[in-house]
Amino acid sequence: MCGIVGYIGTKKASPILINGLLRLEYRGYDSAGIATIEKDGISLMKDKGRVKNLYNLEGIDDLEGTIGIAHTRWATHGKPSKENSHPHIDNSKTFSVVHNGIIENYHELREFLADNGYTFYSQTDTEVIPNLIHYYYSKDEKNDELKFLRAVRNACKDLKGSFAIEVVCKDYPDNMIVVRKDSPLVIGKGDGENYISSDIPAILSFTRDFYLLNDLEFVILSRNDAKFYDIDLKPIDKKTKTIEWNASSAEKDGFDDYMLKEIYEQPTAIRETIGSKLTENSKCEFEDLTFTKEYLQSINKIYIVACGTAMHAGLAGKNAIEKLCKIPTEVDIASEFRYRDPIIDEKTLCIFISQSGETADTIAALKLSREKGAKTLAISNVIGSSITREADYSIYTHAGPEIAVASTKAYTSQVVLLILLSIYFAELLEIKNEDIANLKKEVLELPKKIEETLKTSEVVKEFSKKVYQEKDMFFLGRGIDETVAKEGSLKLKEISYIHAESYAAGELKHGPIALIENDVTVIGIMTDPKLVEKTISNIQEVVTRGAKTLIVTNQDIDDKRFDMVIHIPHTNTFVSPILSIIPLQLFSYYISKEKGLDVDKPRNLAKSVTVE
Ligand code: AGP
Repeated sequence: MCGIVGYIGTKKASPILINGLLRLEYRGYDSAGIATIEKDGISLMKDKGRVKNLYNLEGIDDLEGTIGIAHTRWATHGKPSKENSHPHIDNSKTFSVVHNGIIENYHELREFLADNGYTFYSQTDTEVIPNLIHYYYSKDEKNDELKFLRAVRNACKDLKGSFAIEVVCKDYPDNMIVVRKDSPLVIGKGDGENYISSDIPAILSFTRDFYLLNDLEFVILSRNDAKFYDIDLKPIDKKTKTIEWNASSAEKDGFDDYMLKEIYEQPTAIRETIGSKLTENSKCEFEDLTFTKEYLQSINKIYIVACGTAMHAGLAGKNAIEKLCKIPTEVDIASEFRYRDPIIDEKTLCIFISQSGETADTIAALKLSREKGAKTLAISNVIGSSITREADYSIYTHAGPEIAVASTKAYTSQVVLLILLSIYFAELLEIKNEDIANLKKEVLELPKKIEETLKTSEVVKEFSKKVYQEKDMFFLGRGIDETVAKEGSLKLKEISYIHAESYAAGELKHGPIALIENDVTVIGIMTDPKLVEKTISNIQEVVTRGAKTLIVTNQDIDDKRFDMVIHIPHTNTFVSPILSIIPLQLFSYYISKEKGLDVDKPRNLAKSVTVE
């Protein structure tokens, strides 16, 4: 939520900042702005609307400053407007700040500052920050090189909530200060320049060497240096980490949209995620995991906790862990988990899944589980992301940067990683299960089968054209196929704005079937040979009531009964979600395109949800 970019170097900052914002727009796009340090002080350019609107602002081309901060907003406090856009500036125009996160005690701070003569011009929580920094700055009688840092640190001590902030000060025209707490921020090290961003892909074309910040580490940046301090202002030694992603992985590479590119990247994402963890004839290995048979025998429950699509991947994980390892596994929505007083102790293993690794609810659920004595394992796509720094263990999907708001390759990579994890657990537990050998073979064949599945694209597109004007759709499945129905329905809602519901197919007749009328579109998923006949019967019930039907299946069924049947390669039910979701990803994509919508940046949504 909200994207932050910063630059300090020798080049003109404004084009670099705007370019970075364009890449971060998927994090929020209600308004945008930049602040640069010019010869006569801080220049502020901002407006509501998309980042590209910045190009129309008068004077934007005349900016010469080589230091600047920038922001693209996903509104929380105060509607999208010029006044509420970032950067914000203090009353004396000494400090300018961009902020991602939420300042929970901003009311009290606003009152405190108002009592001290400060005036506010926006409805945002952020505007307290530059003024609070100024408050401490003006009270500090020492005029040394750390005065700017002290003011920022003192202000941050008063802030409750989450924040990633960049601050520039007109009195320190060759510096910038950045700090984060529970909100993402990385620093890219260049040659005689430093880049700051909410995430790595936005600045990958400039550098692959990154400083990853922990909470409340303060950084004074200059062109050639980055100095790190803890909350007591003691210097910290920090090394850069080289990121393996290449710059083109964050480009569209000839595709119309990131989402389509990411759908087509799934064979590679799965291949990379499997990596060397699995071969047909050896045990499944996770370099970074040191679980023992004794520990796994000691746990009596696994929780998988995540949000949205990541939670749907968790459902496929539960299926694999319970079936292979016989450990009871519950899947929970992170935002609910932490408030429902879950039963957790040292005999619980808690697994947290987050593509971005920055989802506030998931991080909070992890912290709670740790406090209650559970071991925590994070699954993320972003090396060094917050969740991986909080967890006892971390393992990674290697999907490459996922830019489109609607998650595709991250989901399938998460499912495959969870299946590998369940094989790893089962082998550690020395469980003799003939399914395991077959499962390994199926996993290794996945990239090829995904390529096959992608060939259904044209048929899916054809069906999408017939139904894109519909208002409601239903996704039905049983067993593992119900989890895919959930994910298919979420994808459709997100990018096509069509109302979609998912149900366990057998549940329909207990109420929702009342909604089925002539021409309503129903999508059925059938990959479990044990359940296919039962699901067909349920779909038959909606056909009788006039529904149009699209079926995704790997079974031999009588196609004539349905309006369209998408046949996907045969596989077992552990890995089938990885294949059966692909036509549904394409379905949502083509419907969104038919409707002329912005596929990559759907309304009201942000890629990374860093607020509760
Ligand atoms: C997926 O299409 C969604 N944009 C959303 O549900 C997402 O999966 C969820 O917000 C979790 O994000 P995370 O994986 O980065 O934690």
